[in-house]
Amino acid sequence: MPSPAPTADRSASQAAPTSDGVPGGARVTADKKALILTRQAARESAARSYARHLPIVPVRAQGAWITGADGRDYLDCLSGAGTLALGHNHPAVVAAIRAVLDSGAPLHVLDLATPVKDDFTSALLALLPPELAADCRVHFAGPTGADAVEAAVKLARTATGRRGLFAFTGAYHGMTAGALALTGANAVREPAVAGDPFLTRLPFPHPYRCPFGLGGELGAAASAAYVRTLIEDPLSGAGLPAAVVVEPVQGEGGVVPAPDGWLRTLRSLTREHGVPLIADEVQTGFGRTGELFGVNHAGVVPDVMVLSKAVGGGLPLAVVVYRGALDRWAEGAHTGTFRGNQLAMAAGAATLRHIAQEGLAARAAELGGRLVGRLMRYQADHSLLGQVRGRGLMIGMEIVDPAGEPDSLGALPAAPGVARRLRAELLSRGVIAELGGRHGAVLRLLPPLTLADDEAEHLLGVLGRALDAVAEDRDAPRARAEAARV
Ligand SMILES: Cc1ncc(COP(=O)(O)O)c(C=O)c1O
Repeated sequence: MPSPAPTADRSASQAAPTSDGVPGGARVTADKKALILTRQAARESAARSYARHLPIVPVRAQGAWITGADGRDYLDCLSGAGTLALGHNHPAVVAAIRAVLDSGAPLHVLDLATPVKDDFTSALLALLPPELAADCRVHFAGPTGADAVEAAVKLARTATGRRGLFAFTGAYHGMTAGALALTGANAVREPAVAGDPFLTRLPFPHPYRCPFGLGGELGAAASAAYVRTLIEDPLSGAGLPAAVVVEPVQGEGGVVPAPDGWLRTLRSLTREHGVPLIADEVQTGFGRTGELFGVNHAGVVPDVMVLSKAVGGGLPLAVVVYRGALDRWAEGAHTGTFRGNQLAMAAGAATLRHIAQEGLAARAAELGGRLVGRLMRYQADHSLLGQVRGRGLMIGMEIVDPAGEPDSLGALPAAPGVARRLRAELLSRGVIAELGGRHGAVLRLLPPLTLADDEAEHLLGVLGRALDAVAEDRDAPRARAEAARV
């Protein structure tokens, strides 16, 4: 695949021309860039996040590349937190948006039927697991993943008449009260006093930081046995839940794939006991993991799928798809003003069709496998890479302290400071990546599914050099201390 933008390694020293053209013919000077960033820091909330670590002012973007106001090109391995499956401004997406604008169609219609919505729904149904597509309903939620999670939980509670929920350690389901209650991250959940009195937290199998101290298949088997106990033991204290909510690959939790066998056990247990299985595919959906849906790896069909991010082709859209038998809620049970964004539906339909036509799920599997393989080889030279893992183009690297005390399974302590240093080093070399996972010590790569081979090579090269630089920094004080001793 050809890359649409130059891939030369643009180090910080090469960077920072003083001005650059921006859409609309405006010029942004280095001073203006600094002013925009200063104003943002002064005007926007203390809760702003990406903007703190990525002090760039994007003015143009194409494919996997963002051009900053400083004239630098950045390889975008964040892709709007996994939203931009086709990268920035893909011609198919831009054309679909333009066609709606040029047609004079209304842009906002609440949840009324329109030809654009009808077409989007057809595109969506065509990609769903056939068993679900054969008998499902689609609910358009408010246009965020979190709102769709809220809707899914509400639906399951209404349909079952039960209140309990099972969610997992490491989970991320969004920031609204109900979704946050399901989320594992204590640091964001606790200040918001978000919680659900009917929630039971279960241990998610983790290949590096096993919650049982067992690791591998033993850890996954222990987790599955624990879920079984909670569901089947009349003295479990949990009771039969309204739903089990699971991410097929935990993204924000640090790129932790659910083991296939474990997910199958979860499916058979929930089916056996009439508990709806909600798969949160907000981040994993539409090819990201190397299959159209994360659950496909295990051959599992959930009762409810929560979809957002890529489904809107880069514009805000979120839907819940569920088995027809669950459709037992009343009119207006989960309403919201912004559920009819026509531009997002057009962009989404174009994106879904392009993913299917171009076989981008298979491409993500192949390229992701290659990237993970190469990154694993970096481990030989870089002891700060505790583990490299991922599925498709959802890749994570555990950044650890090689001098730290290993746990009983040999896992080293997280090194969040080093991870932050690596992120900054990558940015200075023109690669945008983010952190996630426990202590924010997992470097995450979420490039567009359209990432070209030469762009992937460029990424590997920059990553290798950034790792060298961080390792040098880290080792320098030690080397100095040793030299002083001699
Ligand atoms: C698995 C998962 N669920 C839900 C959400 C929340 O989506 P949103 O940020 O659109 O509310 C996210 C966001 O990253 C996610 O990764």
